[in-house]
Amino acid sequence: MPALELGRQRDRTAVLGLFLAAALVAVQSVCNAPPRFPSAELKEEYQGITSFSYNSKVEYVCRPGYIRNVNARSTLICGRHKTLSSKPCAYPGEPDNGRLVVAENFSFGSTVSFTCNTGYRLVGNPQIQCMLKNGVVTWDRDIPICEPIPCLPPPKIANGEHSDADKELFEYGASVTYWCHTVRRGETPFSLVGDASIFCTTTDNINGVWNKPAPECKVVNCEYPSVKNGKVLSGYRHTYAYRDTVMFDCNFRYTMNGSETSTCKENGLWDPPLPLCQLSSCDDPPDVRNAFKAKLAGNLFPVDTIITYECKEGHQFSPGENTWHIKCLPGFTWSETPQPCERIHCPNPDVKNGKLLNALRENYAYGDTLEITCNDGYAFKGHGNSIVLQCSSDGRWDPEVLECTPERHCPRPDTAHGTEVYNSRNDYTVGTQVRLGCDTGYVLRGQDLTECQADASWAPPLPFCDKVCDPPPQITNGQHSGLRTEKFPYGAEVTYSCAEGLSLIGDASIYCTSDDGVNLAWSGPAPECRVVRCPKPTVERGRMTPQRFTFPYGVAVQFSCDEGFVLHGDAESRCLADSAWHPPLPTCQPGGYQTRADSGIALVQLHEWGCFVTGGLGLTEGLRQEGDAQHVGPCSSLMPSVFVLVLLKKKRDTCEKILQNREAFQCGVPLTELKTLLEVQKLYLEIQKLERDLRSTTNG
Ligand SMILES: *[C@@H]1O[C@H](CO)[C@@H](O)[C@H](O)[C@H]1NC(C)=O
Ligand SMILES: *[C@@H]1O[C@H](CO)[C@@H](O)[C@H](O)[C@H]1NC(C)=O
Repeated sequence: MPALELGRQRDRTAVLGLFLAAALVAVQSVCNAPPRFPSAELKEEYQGITSFSYNSKVEYVCRPGYIRNVNARSTLICGRHKTLSSKPCAYPGEPDNGRLVVAENFSFGSTVSFTCNTGYRLVGNPQIQCMLKNGVVTWDRDIPICEPIPCLPPPKIANGEHSDADKELFEYGASVTYWCHTVRRGETPFSLVGDASIFCTTTDNINGVWNKPAPECKVVNCEYPSVKNGKVLSGYRHTYAYRDTVMFDCNFRYTMNGSETSTCKENGLWDPPLPLCQLSSCDDPPDVRNAFKAKLAGNLFPVDTIITYECKEGHQFSPGENTWHIKCLPGFTWSETPQPCERIHCPNPDVKNGKLLNALRENYAYGDTLEITCNDGYAFKGHGNSIVLQCSSDGRWDPEVLECTPERHCPRPDTAHGTEVYNSRNDYTVGTQVRLGCDTGYVLRGQDLTECQADASWAPPLPFCDKVCDPPPQITNGQHSGLRTEKFPYGAEVTYSCAEGLSLIGDASIYCTSDDGVNLAWSGPAPECRVVRCPKPTVERGRMTPQRFTFPYGVAVQFSCDEGFVLHGDAESRCLADSAWHPPLPTCQPGGYQTRADSGIALVQLHEWGCFVTGGLGLTEGLRQEGDAQHVGPCSSLMPSVFVLVLLKKKRDTCEKILQNREAFQCGVPLTELKTLLEVQKLYLEIQKLERDLRSTTNG
């Protein structure tokens, strides 16, 4: 016998031995090749054979390096030792609603088990074994069956019933639904307490049970859900039954503690429990007389809210204090109620040299007014002698109480030749108004009404009285412009006018003036109004311009002489008060160019050989006295007074003399005479030519 599993393998050997002892004798079953061992091998004669008949024997010997264990067997017999019989059982199949639990394989001696699907229970033996029966390897018994797990009929309940009441068999998974019986009108209906449906299940996979107790049908009433300081917001009804749900809300300034919804439970209680409405705000802060609450935001005042009161204008809580704070305490009460604000008081005024008018009060407060006046002879500086004070919001008098000081007077308005027409007071104290007038013969200069100012001066300044001229003299047959004027002060002017047809002789206007700076008088005598007619002026061989037919006072006429005659005397004469012409009328005498008495024109140009002059009468006369003028002749018959002279060189000093007087000759050039000037210029140019000719003749 080979040493099987020697030493270290003793246990395995013992098991093998046990198997061999338990082995059953088989019929003509064929064994496969015997097993191989690490310590022993088949004797040579059995090697290579793969099939053995029932009861045939194989023998082992130890492999080199192993020695035989005397207690271990060294032979195996087919059909007796399991290791040699490996023919398996057939697949046993599976029960309906169940399944086979495969251990390893279906080999000889192996066991397989079965389980049922959920809801089914196993009837029979859960295990079968592969064994030798009548020499054949087969299963020792039939496979089990799986039958549905049954429940007992669902429980009956009072006042209700369930579905499938006529059914007898309730298998795993079946469910039933309960309902309560209806009640007659007016009776409280039953509430189904618990789940309406139950179903058949199992806990041990053998017997069925209902998953939970059947519901109950009973009358469930919850009491009215009253929440203090709160109200039912929704779900309101008369009575509350199982599962009724209500929603709550808290009153203003209350906060909910708990759930805002609650449901009536089967035990007749609300769940979750009804909430509490807890006060969460102080009341409105109290009103305080003469104060207002500053910066009040909203109307909820949680604990620690601070309210500030401010006194109205002119009021205070205590001297200097016009605010007050209160706080909402944890018990939702205000820390205090402030005192009312009191009116601010002003001190009683102490008026020196004065008194209070209508001083009815002892005590003056904000807004009160008070009139004080100064005693006679005293006044407030700049305020007259009476003043109204008002007690202001800061407890002071407005304006401040002033002192009555000795009154100030303006100087008596002493105006020379003036009188006081009116005064508002006769002591001329500050504020007095005075109106002044002047004596007859004087006029008032400045503003007549003036007032005494705080600085004891009159404003506007006092006027003064100015002397006036006597009314201007009246004249016969005429009048002056000052008839409606009362006074004629210095500078006043009047103008006389005469009746129609009369001439005004003398100055038409006179004015009030003064020679010595003291006395006033008219600047001259008044003019006269009378008839003045001059005879028609006649100048032989002369003409008069303008042409007219009457010659009253003041008329002036001009005269000129016919050609070839020269005017002797003044060219203009005027009719004066003595009805005669002044200066006397001129005469026209035959003669050269001295026919005009008025000034002419002169053009003097100095040349190396002399000078060239055009000019009027005065000039020619001067020249004639010199005796050496060379007469060139008149420039034009239209302008006989204009002529041209050429002086010789030796008369150079005469030319210079003329030049010095040139301005005298240039007066009154009428525009028309410019033409003449141009002609003169032309003439001059001709003279120049003549000069050149002369020179060439002298040289030749
Ligand atoms: C069957 O299972 C046994 C135990 O695991 C094993 O020894 C044997 O070799 C298996 N037989 C087959 C044919 O797989
Ligand atoms: C809510 O009420 C309970 C019971 O009165 C109280 O103990 C709890 O403090 C309250 N909660 C609040 C936040 O006030």
